[in-house]
Amino acid sequence: MERPLRGLMVGAGYFAPIQLAAWRAVRGAEIHGLVGHRDPDRVAAVAREAGVGWSGVDLEAAMAEVRPDFLDICTPPATHGELIRFAVDRGLPVLCQKPLAPTVADAAELADLAHRHGVPLVVNENWRWQPWYREAKRLIDNGVLGRPFHTTMRMRPGDGWGERPYPDQPYFAAMPRLVLFETGVHYVDTTRYLFGEIDEVRCTTATVNPAVTGEDLVIAVLHTTGGGIVVYDADRSAVARTVRSLAYGTMSVEGTDATLEVADDGTMTVLRRDGRTARHDYRIPDGWKGGCATAAQQNFVDALRGRAEAETPAADYVRTMRVVEACYQSAASGQAVRIRSERVAGVPEPAGERLP
Ligand SMILES: NC(=O)c1ccc[n+]([C@@H]2O[C@H](COP(=O)([O-])OP(=O)(O)OC[C@H]3O[C@@H](n4cnc5c(N)ncnc54)[C@H](O)[C@@H]3O)[C@@H](O)[C@H]2O)c1
Repeated sequence: MERPLRGLMVGAGYFAPIQLAAWRAVRGAEIHGLVGHRDPDRVAAVAREAGVGWSGVDLEAAMAEVRPDFLDICTPPATHGELIRFAVDRGLPVLCQKPLAPTVADAAELADLAHRHGVPLVVNENWRWQPWYREAKRLIDNGVLGRPFHTTMRMRPGDGWGERPYPDQPYFAAMPRLVLFETGVHYVDTTRYLFGEIDEVRCTTATVNPAVTGEDLVIAVLHTTGGGIVVYDADRSAVARTVRSLAYGTMSVEGTDATLEVADDGTMTVLRRDGRTARHDYRIPDGWKGGCATAAQQNFVDALRGRAEAETPAADYVRTMRVVEACYQSAASGQAVRIRSERVAGVPEPAGERLP
C-alpha cells in the first residue's frame, strides 16, 4: 500500500483548525507538523486538538523534524510569497490559501516561479467544492436549465455590523480591500468553474459600516465569454436571516428552460417553464460547508499522486485575481473593464476567449 503523503502546515489562526479537521478526512495524506509564529502556546494547542504530532514556530526546524512531502500554507496573503519561495527553493509542492498574493503581479510572479522550477503550486480554493455548486454544475452540464443566461449570487453572511464586526476574523475591519479581495475572489472562481471565463466586469462598491476600512458592499456584474451574466451581490453589513449560513446566502441560476434556486441552507429547487416546481434532493456531505475543504485538499493530493488534474493551479488562479482587480478598477472609474488576456506560463489560453 502507498504510504500517505506527509504534510507540514503553516498558520495557526482562525482557519487552521477547520483546515486541519478537513485533512483528517482526506485519503492518502496526513499533516505531521504545524508551524506558527509569535504564539507557540496557540500553535501547540491547535496542533494537539487536531492530533498533529509536531508543532513549533521555526520553519527550518519543522522541515528537519517532519520531512514533509508538501507544504500547506494557511497564513495571511502578504506572507504567502515568502513561504512559497521557501518551498520552491526546496522543490516542495505547495497548497496555498487564497488569495494567492496581495496583487495580481505578485501572484503571476509566484505562479511563474513555481512553473519554472517544476514545483506544483495549487491554490486552496475550497468554495467551488461546496456541494451545491458541484450539483448546480452537474444540472447545468446535463442541460436541465437549458442555456443559463442570468445568475445571481447573493452573499449575506450578516457578520459585519457594529463596532466590532467579524468576530471570527477581526482583522477584516482594517483591510483596505475587503469583500472583493477576501471573499469575492471565491465567487469569481466559482463563476469561472460554473460558466467559464469572464471577459468584462462592471462593479460598484460601498463601505456601509463606519467601523471597517474597506468595502463591505459589492455589486459586480460579470460577463462570461459564453454570453451569460452573473451578478455578485454581496453585502456583509446587512441583516441576514441566519448569520454565516451554510451557503452564505442564496443563488439563482436562470436558464432558458428552468431556474435553479439554492437556499442559504443549501437546499435546491428547480422551477420549470411548464410550471412544475420541485425540490431537488442531493447529498450534502459532512464537514465544514458541506465537506468543501476536504474535497479541495483531496483534489490537491490526488493531483500530486497523478490521479486527477488540480482544479485551481496557481497559474490559472491568476485569471481569477485579474477579474477581482478589474472589479476594483471598474468601481474606481465607474466604467466597464475588459479583462486583459495575458498569458501565464504553463496555462493554455481558455478556449473560446474572444478578446481584443
Ligand atoms: N474559505 C476559506 O478557504 C478560508 C476561510 C478563512 C480564511 N481563509 C484564508 O486562510 C488564510 C488564513 O486566514 P485566517 O483567517 O486563518 O488568518 P488569521 O490571521 O486568523 O491566522 C493566520 C495565522 O498565520 C500565522 N502566521 C502569519 N505569518 C506567519 C509566518 N510567516 N509563519 C508562520 N505563521 C504565520 C499567524 O500567527 C496566525 O496564526 C488567509 O489566506 C485567508 O484568506 C480561507
